Amino acid sequence: MRSNINLKELIDPAKLPQHVAIIMDGNGRWAKKQGLSRIYGHQKGADAVRNVTEACAELSIPYLTLYAFSTENWNRPKEEIDALMNLLVETINKELPTLQKNNIKLNAIGNLRQLPEHAYQKLLQTIESTQYNTHLTLTIALSYSSHWEITEMVRSIAHKIKFGEILPENIDQKLIEQNLNTYPIPFPDLLIRTSGEHRISNFLLYQLAYTELYFTETLWPDYSKDDFYKAIIDYQKRERRFGKISEQIQSNQNEK
Ligand code: IPE
Ligand code: IPE
Ligand code: MG
Repeated sequence: MRSNINLKELIDPAKLPQHVAIIMDGNGRWAKKQGLSRIYGHQKGADAVRNVTEACAELSIPYLTLYAFSTENWNRPKEEIDALMNLLVETINKELPTLQKNNIKLNAIGNLRQLPEHAYQKLLQTIESTQYNTHLTLTIALSYSSHWEITEMVRSIAHKIKFGEILPENIDQKLIEQNLNTYPIPFPDLLIRTSGEHRISNFLLYQLAYTELYFTETLWPDYSKDDFYKAIIDYQKRERRFGKISEQIQSNQNEK
């Protein structure tokens, strides 16, 4: 039953997460429950992407990162992979005017070169044509996994050492972070995973070090703006201590 409470009004605009990341899971199970093919589930999932992107833009959350296709997802049946890649191109085509209208910048992380050429080109074109938009950065993780990203980071630092640009003694956290694919996007404040699974599935392992985790049973195609607002409200009730004690956090807040 839908409640009449306006969830959006319960959100404190002063305590918004600056970056929300989402593992959009459950498309296949959603379709199966309706007796439909998994591909239909992915199509419905694209509508949920629209809802959440809009909700983020309306709340003025500046960064949203969506896990759309993992390195491991290449092991799925070929028909499903093909359908997902076609859906990617279709969705980008359909949503481009909305991205422009709402001042949304499209970004992508992952081993994009592995995408089929038509999907890769479409993605690059859209990234380029939205590059000066400033209201929200929407990052899609495609052919992405943290193990891939961390391997690339090590390779790129090794090259810099080989060409004498840095010394091994210069390797510090900052350098590591600057060589991650997500740079310069700040680390997520909130990670949402749908469909009742309680795992990270190779997503942003380094970046999630102090992220608040939120799990919901809702399957991704059913995910609504209200579901998103509920996650934000839950996040706002938490105390992020970053290793400190509660009193330190509270005295910091009182000083503000
Ligand atoms: C998430 O839904 C979308 C992708 C991983 C591409 P799934 O396709 O994993 O759906 P389930 O987990 O099988 O229900
Ligand atoms: C994680 O979902 C990847 C994406 C949402 C793109 P999966 O459905 O692939 O994850 P596992 O296999 O259940 O861990
Ligand atoms: Mg899944």
